[in-house]
Amino acid sequence: MDANTLRRRFLDFFRQHDHAVIGSAPLIPENDPSVLFTTAGMHPLIPFLLGEPHPAGRRLANFQKCLRTNDIEEVGDAAHLTFFEMLGNWSLGDYWKEQAIRLNYTLFTEVFGHDPERLHVTCFAGDADAPRDDEAAAIWRSLGIPERRITFLSKVDNWWGPAGVTGPCGPDSEVFFDTNPGGPSDETPASNPQRFWEIGNNVFMAYDKRADGSYVPLAQCNVDVGIGLERNLMVIQGVSSAFETDVFAPIVEAILRQARGEDPFAVRVIADHVRAAVFVLAEGVRPGNSDQPYIARRLIRRVSRYGRRIGINGPFLARLAESVVATLSDAYPELSQESTQIYTALDDEERRFQQTLARGEREFERAAEQVRAQDGDTLAGQTIFHLYDTFGFPLELTEDLAREQGLTVDRPGFEAAFAAHQEQSRQGGAGRFKGGLAERNPATTRLHTATHLLQAALRQVLGPQVEQRGSNITTERLRFDFSYGERLTPEQIATVEGIVNERIVGDLAVHWSEMRLEEARQRGALGLFEERYGETVKVYAIGDVSLEVCGGPHVEHTGDLGRFRIVKEEAVAAGVRRIKAVLE
Ligand code: SER
Repeated sequence: MDANTLRRRFLDFFRQHDHAVIGSAPLIPENDPSVLFTTAGMHPLIPFLLGEPHPAGRRLANFQKCLRTNDIEEVGDAAHLTFFEMLGNWSLGDYWKEQAIRLNYTLFTEVFGHDPERLHVTCFAGDADAPRDDEAAAIWRSLGIPERRITFLSKVDNWWGPAGVTGPCGPDSEVFFDTNPGGPSDETPASNPQRFWEIGNNVFMAYDKRADGSYVPLAQCNVDVGIGLERNLMVIQGVSSAFETDVFAPIVEAILRQARGEDPFAVRVIADHVRAAVFVLAEGVRPGNSDQPYIARRLIRRVSRYGRRIGINGPFLARLAESVVATLSDAYPELSQESTQIYTALDDEERRFQQTLARGEREFERAAEQVRAQDGDTLAGQTIFHLYDTFGFPLELTEDLAREQGLTVDRPGFEAAFAAHQEQSRQGGAGRFKGGLAERNPATTRLHTATHLLQAALRQVLGPQVEQRGSNITTERLRFDFSYGERLTPEQIATVEGIVNERIVGDLAVHWSEMRLEEARQRGALGLFEERYGETVKVYAIGDVSLEVCGGPHVEHTGDLGRFRIVKEEAVAAGVRRIKAVLE
């Protein structure tokens, strides 16, 4: 059975059981700024799960395009995907556990043809918030799943949602397919996740998680079933990775036609990312430095890099994109409708990335020069990390260049620097709206330097009474609050932007030094002197235009920032204005 047949049979089955088939919602959520992409079929349905009547009724089904980017670095093995399709069926306050599980079982065994003897399920073990789900387990048993193929697990595994911080959620019951039925009989999905593939999830949405952490019973009990299309295709088509199923095979073939040498990991990264990029671009997103545009850029640049790794040089994404469009536009006609624009956007971004690489190569030359000047033959870990962090240079690329020049690289040193950076990010947490500078990555580092340039430009245009009142940086944008009594005129905003961009183009060097607080004050460094700082402080200088007490980190040259743009200027309190700005 191919993917088109699977989608069709899935929808037909639920139509026969009185479900209305609804379309796939856009990948970019409408009216929900708290997430960048639709990550599950239930996501566009949140208002209806909370009780608003759905115009199509109380039983719904669809297939939904989804994108999850939190595991992007893991892609390349057999299991991880960024873009994937989710088949879903819902009961909005209509049927409950008994019928949901029966439908799910019939779908898997009769429509998809999965061997009933190879199904395992998990159920919620219960805790202070909700009881153990003996009810679900009893229904599975009545369908013929024996006790030993039912595992009870805690909230970590058997509770789904909310999709954000608050919202509908509840205990779930997951279904797994045993890929090695002859294996040890005491193994479970929990003890051997490689052996058991999750093929579906029945969520019994009976709670609304509130901001205070409490779980309040919902006015209506909903069922939310999500079924990974690629996983089920793997089972049906008898293959061991999504890349061998018919939604991927033509894309993989197109890559192999251009590749030199064998590198299955790289081929899978390229296949996954090119598919994801095509879907994101089809929604009108263009690569940039924040939000969805940043993800598009990241996907495309990773493909470029991995392409280079398997010996593909020059622009190649548009050609691969043709295979994605051909493979998936039956189900998603927007791909063929938008194909010309998708190919152009891919070409443009690939070329831009070549320029970035060229800049990184110049930086590499500088570093190599220095090593030789000191009669050395090894690039230090910190240098390699700097190339990675600021110029997007992966280790293997630096290694290649070093080899060409007869230099070696301090790989353990790089790994130590990388681990230290990871540890800092981990401590900082990864929440998208956390703000602050705990999240140290290239995007926030650039925005941080831009914030210093912004403050300097504001003081130049509006006068020295401008003082920082607050700052918050995410990977997408900077937010800067400052003392000033009036709305800025469009001319003032344009002038401030112009000054910042001029200093970016001027590629000013950024330096820091440590000094006593008193000395920093005497030198005229900006800072919140009353509070916070210890006796010795770090002071960052950008050329001769900015001097600020600050912990960093910052870029080393302002030329790395890209173009600065103010997207909003508004009041936040009497005498305090707020600017939001991005780098693109
Ligand atoms: N919301 C659940 C999931 O994403 C089921 O649709 O797995």
